Amino acid sequence: MDLSALEKEILEADLSTEEGRTAFQKRFLQKGGVLESLLAELRTLPPEARKARGQALNALREKARQRWEAAKQAYSTPLSTTPKPQDPTFPALRIQPGGRHPLSLIEGRIIRFFQRLGYTLATGPEIEDDWHNFSALNFEPDHPARDMQDTFFLDPAAGLLLRTHTSTVQVRVMERQKPPIRILAPGRVYRNETVSARAHVYFHQIEGLYVDEGVQTSDLKATLTSFVENFFGPGTPMRWRASYFPFTEMSAEVDIACLICHGAGCAVCKHTGWVEVLGCGMVDPAVFEACGIDPHRYTGFAFGLGVERLAQLLYTIPDLRLFGQNDLRFLQSFQGYGYAL
Ligand code: PHE
Repeated sequence: MDLSALEKEILEADLSTEEGRTAFQKRFLQKGGVLESLLAELRTLPPEARKARGQALNALREKARQRWEAAKQAYSTPLSTTPKPQDPTFPALRIQPGGRHPLSLIEGRIIRFFQRLGYTLATGPEIEDDWHNFSALNFEPDHPARDMQDTFFLDPAAGLLLRTHTSTVQVRVMERQKPPIRILAPGRVYRNETVSARAHVYFHQIEGLYVDEGVQTSDLKATLTSFVENFFGPGTPMRWRASYFPFTEMSAEVDIACLICHGAGCAVCKHTGWVEVLGCGMVDPAVFEACGIDPHRYTGFAFGLGVERLAQLLYTIPDLRLFGQNDLRFLQSFQGYGYAL
């Protein structure tokens, strides 16, 4: 038998697998293997040939043993089980605790205040139809007020749009529920504005609605005055301005003294010293009629708050875009403000 072929086999056998090693062991190292039988055949050779052949076979057996030992070393001890020494001086990984987004914090505060007055939460879809966003709220088809809110129309033929305010939810509640109604409608709304430090294409509102027999303007004033004082602190300077919304009659807006410049004049208050914080009014009887509520029996008020605006004033945030960028440096600055919604 040609020993050089055997030698090649010994040197090149694949010993990386369990099967490879077992086969190698059987063929070259055990009784009944090829080397053992070749050694046994030595006796049959003429004496002058025996010595050289014996030495060559022994050398091969030695090579096989060495490969076998090396493979045992390399493959039989799984590296992962080797215990690593512990280094107690190694610095600990920093745990980064999470925190609530400032808009969630503000939304939670507003909701908690009105829940104490008996308001419950109501939600509705962000993709709306013309009826809930405009028509039921007394926007005439060609009324210029439809331009007040730069609407993203999705499918003009189907009348689908992104809601421009959460007054849509008030319509949906009034359509299915009869008074007394006291709801709060938080949610995201969309307007086609140029993105800047002061405006964005989406923002968050909380609108409120209170409908019952005998609800008066004085109820509206008392409710919203106590909200502003609770939110910004007692004695915060406020002013009420007559305004216009198609769905309320009387309509008003509330300004507070600018908390950023304290009246000295800055970009946020457009150098007037006052910032608008909410819109409100007594629900127009036409809206009640559109929603199937008797306007002769019931009256009510509604209001709308911009969450970004309130957060901006309370936390002195110079640029609205910060709320949507998820910059950790910005978000981490609110970690101390608590977690509760
Ligand atoms: N829906 C109005 C807006 O988004 C806000 C508002 C709500 C005003 C309720 C009055 C009453 O601008």
